[in-house]
Amino acid sequence: MNITPLSPVLGANVDGVDLATITVAEFETIYQAWLDHGVLRIRGQSLDDTQLERFSARFGPLEKIPVKLPEEKLRKMFDSLYVTPLSNIRKNGKPIGGLGNSEAKWHSDMTYEPTPPPASVLLSIEVPDEGGDTQFACQQAALASLPTELREQAERIEIKHDAAHTSIGQLRVGFEEVDSPRESPGAVHPAILRHPETGREGLYLGRREWAYVMGMEVDESEALLDELWRYAAIPENVWTQKWTVGDVLIWDNRRVLHRRDAFPDHLRRLMKRCQVLAREG
Ligand code: OGA
Ligand code: MN
Repeated sequence: MNITPLSPVLGANVDGVDLATITVAEFETIYQAWLDHGVLRIRGQSLDDTQLERFSARFGPLEKIPVKLPEEKLRKMFDSLYVTPLSNIRKNGKPIGGLGNSEAKWHSDMTYEPTPPPASVLLSIEVPDEGGDTQFACQQAALASLPTELREQAERIEIKHDAAHTSIGQLRVGFEEVDSPRESPGAVHPAILRHPETGREGLYLGRREWAYVMGMEVDESEALLDELWRYAAIPENVWTQKWTVGDVLIWDNRRVLHRRDAFPDHLRRLMKRCQVLAREG
């Protein structure tokens, strides 16, 4: 197996491994590389849903497809209950997956939960010729770039992470719009996260929209969040993935933010995603 950094601050390319038949020793190397680099890319993989589920489950327990339907129905619709399609493709007028073709703004997955998923695994099945790139920003580097005074402020605050909207800004099923970020529902986390496995500290912002700094007036909270977000994705801390078919990306939500470019809706994009949940205890 060869592990080659993709940028000075984050990301590594892995080759010489078939994720469908990976050994325990190979997985250990991959796991360590993932902790070291924050994002791994493994090209040329051909995995069905069951194989993707099995590989992803080595990282930890997986989230069930976030579609609120009886399990029996889900079993008929999907090959694996733990592999979520993301796509703009429609079948009989209905989207076959989430997120459509719009931009997904900078975010970390599900930080509106008290214990967010450490890892996300994404496999490309169909990719558009134009648009749909996915970018990653290292939040440990972002923290290191803060001016002293702002860093000191960040050390003292907790941020509420909005649960009501998706990463393309749509209201989630079961939520209502609120008037002010102060009222938005979601988990509260310190603005600086000490990575539980590497011990390194990074900014922990979740997403900009509807975020709220606990205890502040909304104006003050908005101004401080804007200031912190100026440092969240400065170009030297960002790496861009241009997809080819059969790429597997694994990222560490505790260390990186990600976003996705929009792409023309007449072009097809189909990805399969597993969300790795934190282990209990
Ligand atoms: C995700 C996500 C971006 C993409 O899977 O959490 O944000 O490139 N996907 O589809
Ligand atoms: Mn995401």
